[in-house]
Amino acid sequence: MHPKDTATRYDRIASWWQTQHQSSSYGIAQLERAIKFTPKKQLAIDIGCGSSGRFIQVLKEHGFQVEGLDMSEEMIDLAKQLHPGITFYRADICRWNPPKRYSLIVAWDSTFHLPLEMQKPGRC
Ligand SMILES: C[S@@+](CC[C@H](N)C(=O)[O-])C[C@H]1O[C@@H](n2cnc3c(N)ncnc32)[C@H](O)[C@@H]1O
Repeated sequence: MHPKDTATRYDRIASWWQTQHQSSSYGIAQLERAIKFTPKKQLAIDIGCGSSGRFIQVLKEHGFQVEGLDMSEEMIDLAKQLHPGITFYRADICRWNPPKRYSLIVAWDSTFHLPLEMQKPGRC
């Protein structure tokens, strides 16, 4: 599915996603493990952050300055409400050029949505 179509579908379920997943622990143990391997707790970004920003919350608690990125406008708008003051990018990860250097980049449960040809090195 093209990323634009994926985003349209997530727009429709953004509110449901937020209430259903905000307190989910799915992937959090893996995030905590990744954080342990990150010596500089500076700037982090959550790619495909969704409407709950649950990874953003954990990263903030560990002292990171955090940003979020998602292709779905509705997901981003809801995440902003829960995390005021955080920079969010509405973008397709396949076309996005990072404007900064990050100590940690998280992309939990998001990049599997990309068409296979976009997952090949050099396409993203
Ligand atoms: C299954 S949800 C996971 C949300 C969050 N990472 C979590 O675990 O709660 C997938 C998210 O990836 C986003 N996404 C899918 N394809 C994307 C793309 N090409 N660029 C940016 N975000 C994308 C969707 O809009 C959606 O918010």
